[in-house]
Amino acid sequence: MRKKVIAGNWKMNMLPNEAISMITELTPLVKDTGNEVVLCVPYTDLFYSLLTAQGSNIKIGAQNMHYEEKGAYTGEISGKMLKSIGVEYVIIGHSERRQYFNETDETVNKKIKTAFENNLKPIVCVGETLEEREAGIAYEIIENQTQKALEGLTEEQVANTIIAYEPIWAIGTGKTATSEDANEACKKIREKIAKMYGQNVGERVIIQYGGSMKPENAKELLEMSDIDGGLIGGASLKAESFAKIVNYNS
Ligand code: 13P
Repeated sequence: MRKKVIAGNWKMNMLPNEAISMITELTPLVKDTGNEVVLCVPYTDLFYSLLTAQGSNIKIGAQNMHYEEKGAYTGEISGKMLKSIGVEYVIIGHSERRQYFNETDETVNKKIKTAFENNLKPIVCVGETLEEREAGIAYEIIENQTQKALEGLTEEQVANTIIAYEPIWAIGTGKTATSEDANEACKKIREKIAKMYGQNVGERVIIQYGGSMKPENAKELLEMSDIDGGLIGGASLKAESFAKIVNYNS
């Protein structure tokens, strides 16, 4: 049985005082869940968030990192730096980074490898645009992104990678994929991984859905056979709404 991983992605929101308040409020609300609870916060919130979440079941993640360990990369943060302060998760290849910051399948692949070298758990985003969906090539796109992201990883590393299926047209738009469509896409990703790395790895890998997930639709999505969690943007900014998603099954 795969554990559900409910992860918030705050994107470029929340000042440190807001992060501290949110996590303080969230802590008692999610303390009894059996689901994994993660908040991926801006770099400037990481340290405050880690301190505030100490002793709770809330894990802290970053939203990006560089693949090099150190060097002349002005403005970048390395996996080693994240690990050094106690970060456990890192989002890699979010569609916003692919779209606005030149993230490619190749840099995504390098970053995943570096994440594992530093004992960080990668949450790797894949997803199609509306045009690609309408052209009937959504599965081809996400299978291809998945294959390129995972190239050169060991079976064990693939089994420990979290894939977030985030159809781009559903992000921040209020449009959610139907639970059947979201499940079908997650299933296709799982089948692709099973074909490449074996049935056992396919069964173990955690595949999240992301894109306008909120308290009202979380239960239906999270109860689907191949959706093992959520990557939540807008609804993760408030403790109450995020907690409702985390507690969808309690
Ligand atoms: P929203 O939940 O705001 O649609 O964002 C989804 C997302 O991009 C999470 O990474």
